[in-house]
Amino acid sequence: MDRLKGKVAVITGGASGIGAAIADAFRKEGAEVVVFDLAAREDTVQVDVSDEAEVESAIRKTVERYGRIDILVNNAGFAGANKPTLDVTEEEWDRTFNVDVKGVLFCTKHVLPHMIRAGGGSIVNMSSIYAVIGTKGDLAAYHAAKGAVLAMTRQDAVTYGKYGIRVNAVLPGAIVTPLLQSLGSQVPGGWDAYYAYVAKRNPIGFLGSPEDVAYGVVYLASDEARFVTGTPLYIDGGYTAW
Ligand SMILES: NC(=O)c1ccc[n+]([C@@H]2O[C@H](COP(=O)([O-])OP(=O)(O)OC[C@H]3O[C@@H](n4cnc5c(N)ncnc54)[C@H](O)[C@@H]3O)[C@@H](O)[C@H]2O)c1
Repeated sequence: MDRLKGKVAVITGGASGIGAAIADAFRKEGAEVVVFDLAAREDTVQVDVSDEAEVESAIRKTVERYGRIDILVNNAGFAGANKPTLDVTEEEWDRTFNVDVKGVLFCTKHVLPHMIRAGGGSIVNMSSIYAVIGTKGDLAAYHAAKGAVLAMTRQDAVTYGKYGIRVNAVLPGAIVTPLLQSLGSQVPGGWDAYYAYVAKRNPIGFLGSPEDVAYGVVYLASDEARFVTGTPLYIDGGYTAW
C-alpha cells in the first residue's frame, strides 16, 4: 500500500490509457501525483510536452507547490502517421518526434536539476517493444521515436547515476487503450481481427491492460528498484520472447 509513500510524482499523458492507470496505482501506493496532459481537466495540469516553455513552467510550479519531484514518468505519446518510411513526410516525422522524443527530453531536462539538488530520483520512460523489433505494420516514425527513447534512457542512466538518479524504460507490447484501439480498428476486419491476430502471437494468449504496465512502473519508481537503472522492462505477454 505504501510503496511510494511521501513521494511526489509527475506523470505525463496521465489523462488516458496507461498513464491514467499509472496515476491510479501511484495514488494507491501513497504518492502525490501531478498529471501533465494536453487534456484540460480538474485533475490535470494542461501541458503540451513538446513545448519546452510550457514544460519548464509546469515543472517550476510543481516544485514551488510540492517542494520537489521524486519521480518522473515520461508516458505521453502519440502514434502519428501510420505510414512506412517510403511514404512518411518530414512534417509527419517531426510531429511524432516532437512529442515522443523531444517531450521526453524537455521533461527530463527540466526535472533533472531538482533531482540533482535533492540527491536522487527515478525517471521511467515509456518506450515500446518496437524500439527493439520491427513489424509488418507501418508507423515508421513512431517506432524510430521509441528506439530513441530507449537510447536516451541508457544514456541518462549512465550520466546521472552518480547523482542517485535512476532512469529505466518500460517496453509494452499490445495494451488495450484508446491509442491501440484506434490503430487496431484500421486493419482489415477491424479491432476484433486485430485483437485475435495479436493474441495468437502472444504466448500468454491475450492483450495487456493499462494496469499490467502500471504495476511495472510502480516497481521501477519505488525504492525497491534502487539497484535497477538503464534497464528495459518488457511487459508484452511474451511477444518478443520468440
Ligand atoms: N497502448 C499500447 O499498446 C502501447 C504500447 C507500447 C507503448 N505505448 C506507449 O504508452 C504511452 C501511453 O499510451 P496509451 O496507449 O495509454 O495512449 P493514450 O492515447 O490512451 O494516452 C496518451 C495520453 O498522452 C497525452 N498526450 C499526447 N500528446 C501529448 C502532448 N503533446 N503533451 C501532453 N500529453 C500528451 C494524451 O492526451 C493522452 O492522455 C505512449 O507513450 C505510447 O506510445 C503504448
